[in-house]
Amino acid sequence: MRAFLVPELSHHSKIAVSSGVPEPKPAEGQVLVDVHSAGLNFFDILQTQGKYQLKPPLPFVLGTEFAGRISQDSPLPKGCQFKHGDRVFGAGQGTFAEKVAVDLARVLPLPDAMTYDQGAGLFITWPTSYEALVGRAELKPGEWVLVTAAAGGVGIAAVQLAKALGANVIAAAGSEAKLDIAKRFGGADHVVDYSKVGWQKQVLKLTNGKGVDVIYDPVGLINDCLKCIAWKGRALVIGFAAGSIEKVPMNLVLLKNVSLVGLHWGAYSIHERQRVPIVWKELLDLFSSGRVKPVIFQEIFSLEKIKDGLSALERRETWGKAIVRVKEVRVAKM
Ligand SMILES: NC(=O)c1ccc[n+]([C@@H]2O[C@H](COP(=O)([O-])OP(=O)(O)OC[C@H]3O[C@@H](n4cnc5c(N)ncnc54)[C@H](OP(=O)(O)O)[C@@H]3O)[C@@H](O)[C@H]2O)c1
Repeated sequence: MRAFLVPELSHHSKIAVSSGVPEPKPAEGQVLVDVHSAGLNFFDILQTQGKYQLKPPLPFVLGTEFAGRISQDSPLPKGCQFKHGDRVFGAGQGTFAEKVAVDLARVLPLPDAMTYDQGAGLFITWPTSYEALVGRAELKPGEWVLVTAAAGGVGIAAVQLAKALGANVIAAAGSEAKLDIAKRFGGADHVVDYSKVGWQKQVLKLTNGKGVDVIYDPVGLINDCLKCIAWKGRALVIGFAAGSIEKVPMNLVLLKNVSLVGLHWGAYSIHERQRVPIVWKELLDLFSSGRVKPVIFQEIFSLEKIKDGLSALERRETWGKAIVRVKEVRVAKM
């Protein structure tokens, strides 16, 4: 099969798509999936270089999120709700390939109304933002939320979800074009360009001097954002897309009764397994109600062009979810 196989740790630009890669053999409790589309994630760029916490043994196929069909020759483990050919989405190591073997527990039925491209970017991205806002920050209707990298993968999901939960949303991003995306596809109430010095004053003005109740930060801008947090505000630590891990002066936390709140969605399957189906039920209800909708970057990449997709992600040129279409190639019209 064709696959983006990492033979040794290096930058993704040095790796070519391989053909003739052996198909994965499902282990006990796994199913085999024909991948139609896969989601690109920031951590894929780190994983090819051995800089991500999950380090599969070499050689390994890159990619984690996917949408596709249960292969005709897949085993159907005990308790499997799927038939051969069923449309599914989920996550597992090695989705930048024609086939992937994944744990049954990490596969869900793809809603009929969703395309493979839309389903390919859901499994990690959306529950991260949902659980952060609902389970961790306990966001209430009418509260103010500030989302950084608001046009990015997890960011635009957070903007939509916060709106659907009745919050007032301020989207922060690094360019006018991305602010426009956050407004058009995210539904943000207000936008702020955080590449401009003193942007926090705009946030304070919008909130009548009070500041925001919740910060959702996948970039590593907690210190900057604390300048415009409200009394008893909650700052969600989601990621470090800017590349460095911040140190927060604890006096800032004390002065405004602030809570710093972490969220590691991937670890729920280990520490809080019972919460996972609850989050998915609530999320899928929101999707079927039409109140939230996956946002896909305008260029769909082929498996052969995956390097370009990862580089675009690295250069901050994408918005929404960047998708690789494994089965066929065409440019999506937005
Ligand atoms: N905690 C969890 O469970 C969890 C789950 C999924 C993802 N994450 C993390 O969330 C972060 C964002 O992931 P994503 O998939 O949404 O990524 P993404 O779509 O690539 O968005 C990242 C955005 O961060 C901003 N950014 C600021 N400085 C940057 C820099 N130096 N390099 C690259 N981007 C920079 C860019 O927006 P602007 O141009 O507007 O600044 C960029 O578009 C990653 O760190 C990821 O590991 C965490």
